[in-house]
Amino acid sequence: MAGQKSSVQVRHTDAEAFAASLLEAAGVSKKNANIIGRALVQADLRGVESHGINRLPSYLARIRNGVLNPKAEPTVNEVTPVVAQVDGNNGFGFPAAHLAMETAVKMAQIFGIGMVSVKHSNHFGMSAWLVRQAVDAGMMSLVFTNSSPALPVWGGKSQLMGVSPIAAGSPGGEDSIPFILDMAPSVAARGKIHKALRRGEKIPEGWALDEEGKPTDDPEKALGGVMLPMGGPKGSALAIMMDVFSGVLSGSAFAGGVTGPYDMSKPGDVGHFIVALKPDLFMSLDEFRQRMDVLYRRVVGSEKMEGVERIYFPGEIEQLTEEKRRKEGIPFVQAEIDVLNAEAERLGVAKIQHAP
Ligand SMILES: NC(=O)c1ccc[n+]([C@@H]2O[C@H](COP(=O)([O-])OP(=O)(O)OC[C@H]3O[C@@H](n4cnc5c(N)ncnc54)[C@H](O)[C@@H]3O)[C@@H](O)[C@H]2O)c1
Repeated sequence: MAGQKSSVQVRHTDAEAFAASLLEAAGVSKKNANIIGRALVQADLRGVESHGINRLPSYLARIRNGVLNPKAEPTVNEVTPVVAQVDGNNGFGFPAAHLAMETAVKMAQIFGIGMVSVKHSNHFGMSAWLVRQAVDAGMMSLVFTNSSPALPVWGGKSQLMGVSPIAAGSPGGEDSIPFILDMAPSVAARGKIHKALRRGEKIPEGWALDEEGKPTDDPEKALGGVMLPMGGPKGSALAIMMDVFSGVLSGSAFAGGVTGPYDMSKPGDVGHFIVALKPDLFMSLDEFRQRMDVLYRRVVGSEKMEGVERIYFPGEIEQLTEEKRRKEGIPFVQAEIDVLNAEAERLGVAKIQHAP
């Protein structure tokens, strides 16, 4: 299988254009195809390949199976001046969440805070792209979503809660990068297991248990079993928190009712919870930015444990990866490119441009 592992480089602009062309050919509007393409490629740029353009075949299969409406447009309903609800109308989660953040930011610009709940949505990939959307508008943010059952609650043995990521962010200062936290409440995101399966790789022990409740390094067996929560009961509680704020509150599916992106039986009915917050509510923006600089310097300049070469701020490793990949291109495994090109052939669009 040596050929399968061979790697090719794709420029991010080519990846974005390719993703958008596949989506448009599948019936998605140009505007939404661009939003989805950019969000997926941002994941590939940041090294979160588990949530990049390799997700496209499963999304396209959802369209073919009639469980996701490619033409759906999200709609927004203002509830109070600082609260709105977006209905994803069972379209892609990306445009629904993008509209939610855009709405929250507009509210925050006037009133200091904006909260938008999203219902009847689908998977929106890597949460960090939404945190980035807020940072680019100069806002702090919270980005929560629920997701399909993958994780037992603490003490339970079968899948109930989603591996639902918790994300938050803030603009940085003059000499510091933005704070971008984006983490699944499991030891590792389930997408990393799908990635290992696609690439024919093993997973580290401690990520998941197999069907019989035994530790496994086999991605296929792990997908048939359960993901392990990070920090025991605390990871389980965070997963429940994502469900309270994203599922129970919004009117979307909850308590194990969300349908996963690889399950073609019915709509996802995912819920999201999005907050944008103005950073200069209690002091000038300059002062806030200076304080972020102090925090950043103290964190990364902290005395290092033995064996540690460098201390990173949350989101920093991903930002460094992005800077490198914007210049050099994004590495993909040939087997993944082949699957994407098979989709291109099926939809009659040009194959992905890449360098060997
Ligand atoms: N939409 C969904 O339903 C869904 C579900 C699960 C996961 N996801 C996505 O999967 C992705 C991966 O999640 P994950 O939990 O495996 O992420 P991860 O463990 O790779 O990173 C989690 C966080 O820790 C920080 N971090 C990691 N290593 C660090 C270090 N050495 N020093 C300082 N900070 C460090 C990262 O910057 C990040 O903010 C996320 O983007 C998440 O949004 C999405």
